[in-house]
Amino acid sequence: MIVSALDDTRVAFDSVAAHYDGPSGNNGLIQDMRREMWRWLDASFPRDSDLIDLGCGTGLDAVRMATRGHRVLATDWSPRMVARARGRAASARVGDRVRTAAIGAHELERIAGSAIFDGVYSNLGALNCLPDLTPVSRECARLIRSGGRLVFTVIGRWCPWEIAYYSSRADWRRVSVRFSRRMMPVGMNGHTVWTRYWTPRELYRMFAGEFSLLHFRALCLFAPPPYLTWLKDRHEGWFEQLWRWDRRVGGWPLLRSLGDHFLIVMARR
Ligand SMILES: C[S@@+](CC[C@H](N)C(=O)[O-])C[C@H]1O[C@@H](n2cnc3c(N)ncnc32)[C@H](O)[C@@H]1O
Repeated sequence: MIVSALDDTRVAFDSVAAHYDGPSGNNGLIQDMRREMWRWLDASFPRDSDLIDLGCGTGLDAVRMATRGHRVLATDWSPRMVARARGRAASARVGDRVRTAAIGAHELERIAGSAIFDGVYSNLGALNCLPDLTPVSRECARLIRSGGRLVFTVIGRWCPWEIAYYSSRADWRRVSVRFSRRMMPVGMNGHTVWTRYWTPRELYRMFAGEFSLLHFRALCLFAPPPYLTWLKDRHEGWFEQLWRWDRRVGGWPLLRSLGDHFLIVMARR
């Protein structure tokens, strides 16, 4: 079941790789979240860091980090996403700073060495495509030097917008999907992405052995989730204010466990 779930997910992302940096994978709301992630990446990694991007997609973050002076090993389970990331790095003339590898986050043992990276990041839910994050935690602990950082954005369990939106349509299956502790099938482009949802605390528990928790916060708590992009298009004026609230109070106790995604920062002991 697990192997076939991972395979389904790879086929699904392969099928969208050609245009995933367009409206489906990088619409205005996703770009807002990406900007937040970049702020935290910049705060976490000094210039000239050696980093791994887990689930790099088409390489938007990897190329951005490379242009800021880092060296990135951009990895993804979907070979077509990896090909896109490689092409993007070459076009941006940072091919020498972005290495690419079709490696799933569940098979990081394929990367040789120990304590050779300053950090690992993963943006926008790649880690939700794994049934268990203990292997990721174990391999990150091997690969990162002491003091190095993990910075992840992950799809959370408690999303007030989603609960309100699907309740208003009496779509109870969709309301309940994030509360399962199992991998759940989510449709994409006629395929299935098997998705497991986490709270920040559940996720941290798997990393607690070797990593200290530095910070976590909600992303898209007041701002709506990316699939409600039509709201942004209709009410553009609201959005900057909603994001201001996200930035101001997204890290407060209780509120930080809500939101469409959460962002979490940990340090290697
Ligand atoms: C929602 S996309 C995000 C992509 C990219 N991080 C971004 O910010 O645009 C999720 C990515 O996770 C990748 N993925 C899915 N399962 C994975 C796995 N087991 N290991 C690594 N990457 C995976 C997909 O191929 C896809 O590129």
